[in-house]
Amino acid sequence: MLDARYSIRTHTCGALTADDIGSEVTLAGWVHKRRDHGGLIFIDVRDRTGLVQCTFDPDASGEAFVFAEKVRPEWVLELEGVVRHRPDGTENANMPTGQVEVVITSVTVLNQSVTPPFEIEAGIETDEVTRMKYRYIDVRRPEVFAALQLRDRVTQRFRKSLEHRGFMEVETPILTKSTPEGARDFIVPSRMNAGKFYALPQSPQLFKQLLMVGGIERYYQIARCFRDEDLRADRQPEFTQVDIEMSFASQEDILALMEEIMHEVMKEAGVDLPVPLPRMTWADAMDRYGCDRPDLRFGMELHQLTEIFADSSFKVFASVANSGGSIKGINARGAGDWSRGKIDALNQVALDAGAKGLAWVAFTTGGDVRSPIAKFFTDEEMAALRAELDVEPGDLVLMVADSHDTANEVLGVVRLHMADALEIERTGWASLWVVDFPMFKYDAEEDRYAANHHPFTMPFAEHVEELETKPLEALSYSYDLIMNGLEIGGGTLRIHNPDLQRRVLGILGIDSDEADEKFGFLLEALTLGAPPHGGIALGLDRLIMLLAGASSIRDVIAFPKTSSGADPLSGAPDVVSARQLKDVHLKTD
Ligand code: AMO
Ligand code: AMP
Repeated sequence: MLDARYSIRTHTCGALTADDIGSEVTLAGWVHKRRDHGGLIFIDVRDRTGLVQCTFDPDASGEAFVFAEKVRPEWVLELEGVVRHRPDGTENANMPTGQVEVVITSVTVLNQSVTPPFEIEAGIETDEVTRMKYRYIDVRRPEVFAALQLRDRVTQRFRKSLEHRGFMEVETPILTKSTPEGARDFIVPSRMNAGKFYALPQSPQLFKQLLMVGGIERYYQIARCFRDEDLRADRQPEFTQVDIEMSFASQEDILALMEEIMHEVMKEAGVDLPVPLPRMTWADAMDRYGCDRPDLRFGMELHQLTEIFADSSFKVFASVANSGGSIKGINARGAGDWSRGKIDALNQVALDAGAKGLAWVAFTTGGDVRSPIAKFFTDEEMAALRAELDVEPGDLVLMVADSHDTANEVLGVVRLHMADALEIERTGWASLWVVDFPMFKYDAEEDRYAANHHPFTMPFAEHVEELETKPLEALSYSYDLIMNGLEIGGGTLRIHNPDLQRRVLGILGIDSDEADEKFGFLLEALTLGAPPHGGIALGLDRLIMLLAGASSIRDVIAFPKTSSGADPLSGAPDVVSARQLKDVHLKTD
């Protein structure tokens, strides 16, 4: 709570109530709005706590009145006056201080302001780059301030909840060595070590593991992370994690503890998170929603249709079904009367997502069936399709035949596209754990295996033996926290055995020499009494975005960057002098 202590004022603007009537007060703040009623001038004065109406009456102070005639928006004032009840009929029920006004007896101008680039109001329509260039003005607006305030409250709650359970905050380096979290590193040239570079951390992953080896047992950090990747609404090049690591804890321990903490944190923001959270395996999430971060606020689940069309005379279906692939479908309720053109446009959505095509059958509300391929289907196949997808008039069935993974992934994208297109209402909080991710995925472009989470993730004990021979079948102790279709956090149990760690790196194409060069410090630490450990990192920006009901994480970051990674306020990134380049042994052409 901001109060008037330690300041030139006696009261804050937003705190004045009928209890203060008759008090002489000193306020400080910004000119919000001025209304000139001829004989009287009203100025709404704003500070962080809110607004109060200040009345300039020549009878109370001629000097103040003359001043009020020339004052401009966003000037910074110190005001003295007396609180009184507003005259009958002029109270404002929409304003917390709407019962009172302050009759001003004296004003001091603390600073003037030129006309601000946009209005200090909620819901203005100013382009985002202008708002970012003048972010300090933007922060004066109620919605931006409220987001930062929420962020502060949530962060403090995390700290309290974690400290309360024995977690210690430890800072880890920013100038460090690359940690592979799957993105590109930001790198910083070293002046004192010609030709060498630091990497900014993509996360504190390896350091938090080393702290477990160091016996800290329960670590957390509100940690800044840096990733040079293409930006989206939920991605910034620098972002904040609530980073957590624990020793001697099972996956169950970690999930249970996180549920308690998330419940407390979300309560701070007025959300009652029902715990324990439901869980879904990665395989189920992919099968049913085509996505490892399923949005459970609506259905439109993926259905397996392979058996129905195994002998289809539609060749595409039959050949996929007989070569071990999958035919999967969704029922987009309410799109059955869409025009041919509108349905055909969906094909591109599927192609962009990696499909070879999108098959469709439209069931009009009038009872007709429209489809370029239904003519190939037997009555039995049609009946089975209708039954499987619970078809009613007005439905549009969309199908993909491909490898199992591609069919799922494509329909996952089409499902979300249809939810947007049909404006399906998505309300409430749908939170879950997605668990049991595969250890590895196959990167076809580079023809090698990649870690699904990161290379320090512990495989299921029963899959360790055949790790090298059946890498794609190995599952891992891993868990992502999903809320409303957004990945809010992710974590794993870690490998604490150096030999197993070397084997996993080996499967990723990192031989023993390279492992020593890149991760020697970790591998060595694992030989020096590393306890079993695991943890999680929550994306603080994304969580606040959800809690604030914002559509971009830029809205909940004080000084965000544009989608091209620029800061319109400071002008970063910028050129540096030849001298600076020389100091760090770099040349540009
Ligand atoms: P991961 O890479 O999944 O895990 O990151 C954890 C969480 O951080 C958030 N996040 C981001 N938020 C904004 N902008 C970004 N560019 C961005 N990238 C990630 C997401 C994500 O769930 N060291 C592991 C965690 C662990 O295993 O303990 C890690 O960093 O919400
Ligand atoms: P075609 O026989 O190539 O004219 O395709 C007929 C319809 O089937 C078109 O609507 C295609 O988009 C669709 N289609 C083609 N390949 C696939 C596939 N693998 N899965 C689903 N639909 C497909």
